[in-house]
Amino acid sequence: MRKVILLPLVLLILLLSSCKGPSTRPEGLTLKQIGQQLELLDENIIKVQAEDPLSPNGQKRVVPRTINKDGSLAVVPAGDWTSGFYPGVLWYMYELTGEVEWKEKAINYTDLLEDQQFNGSNHDVGFRMFSSYGNALRLTGDESYIPVLEQSAKTLITRYYAYVGCLRSWDFNQENWQCPVIIDNMMNLELLFWASGQTGNPVYHDIAFMHALTTMENHFRPDNSSIHVVDYDTITGDVRKMDTHQGYSDESAWSRGQAWGLYGFTASYRLTDHIDFLKQAEKIAMFLLEHPNMPDDLVPYWDYNAPGIPDEPRDASAAAIMASALYELCRYSENGAMFKAKADKIMESLGTTYASEPGENYGFILDHSVGAKPSESEVDVPINYADYYYLEALLRKKKLEAR
Ligand code: GLY
Repeated sequence: MRKVILLPLVLLILLLSSCKGPSTRPEGLTLKQIGQQLELLDENIIKVQAEDPLSPNGQKRVVPRTINKDGSLAVVPAGDWTSGFYPGVLWYMYELTGEVEWKEKAINYTDLLEDQQFNGSNHDVGFRMFSSYGNALRLTGDESYIPVLEQSAKTLITRYYAYVGCLRSWDFNQENWQCPVIIDNMMNLELLFWASGQTGNPVYHDIAFMHALTTMENHFRPDNSSIHVVDYDTITGDVRKMDTHQGYSDESAWSRGQAWGLYGFTASYRLTDHIDFLKQAEKIAMFLLEHPNMPDDLVPYWDYNAPGIPDEPRDASAAAIMASALYELCRYSENGAMFKAKADKIMESLGTTYASEPGENYGFILDHSVGAKPSESEVDVPINYADYYYLEALLRKKKLEAR
């Protein structure tokens, strides 16, 4: 009789313990633990490079991106859109610790991306080069990084469509799109604003400014959520379609896209003083923070309209981007104290509940991000850009609190 009662209980315990979900680390994540994780990641990259040096298209594997479905570490070539984030992680570790070991690694991994200054096959040259070379220049002042960044900006503006007023994001799916612009593209503008300041040539600034204005006009719905992909007619410049690529639906609010918008408009305000960009960033922040589907720990589900909430994966990367953006926005906004408190809450959640267990996940810092749920790609896994924006947010928090 007792066996009959115990068996379902044992099965239930086994089932619960086999479900993957955030684990808790009540004491939070220390800089020492982050350093230990990243040392492990470095060792694992070297192993993959030795055992399987080339990607399926024959390119050298250089930076860690995520964990593959088969459980192996994904080390991707320099042309991958995320390749700047690992050098960026190393630069941020150098900035956080002052330890020269991180600087040396950062220099080595940054140098591996040099050819990417000419890669204009998509808008991601900004992501790749400003996270790596941009941080390298900022932290070392070494002027040899400048020509690479200038060339990267030149490459990026080849994607500008004057009739549209935007940089074209992608070239694939040409049977459906003419000039697709994704909200993520706001993240590439900082490279252009920097390039005008550096060279004295206003063209980079003017293109970035126009891109932000056009995005503000066409990417936002009345509730201040953003559309993922707006496709433009290359002849007339008119909007042709409003789609999603990584979100739940064309009408939904894809979480990382919302975070890119928040970050991009906050940075654009810093770089231009244009007050409408600040107002846009504040409206995005309020949409996110007051959303009925935002969980109490402020780590969003992968899409605010995902159909199975609350049984949907969270996206730690969206939370990390949001935290970093809020630490900047709080400096400019009348609601600064509230935005800072929300960013603090996100960081507490990420450090206590979404961090990798020590020695796990090949050394990635955070777990539980989502790359592209509609294609079941990179769901509930560590991803390099979550780690990058988490460290950036840690730095921003530290600087704010030291003021
Ligand atoms: N396209 C960048 C992202 O997946 O967020």
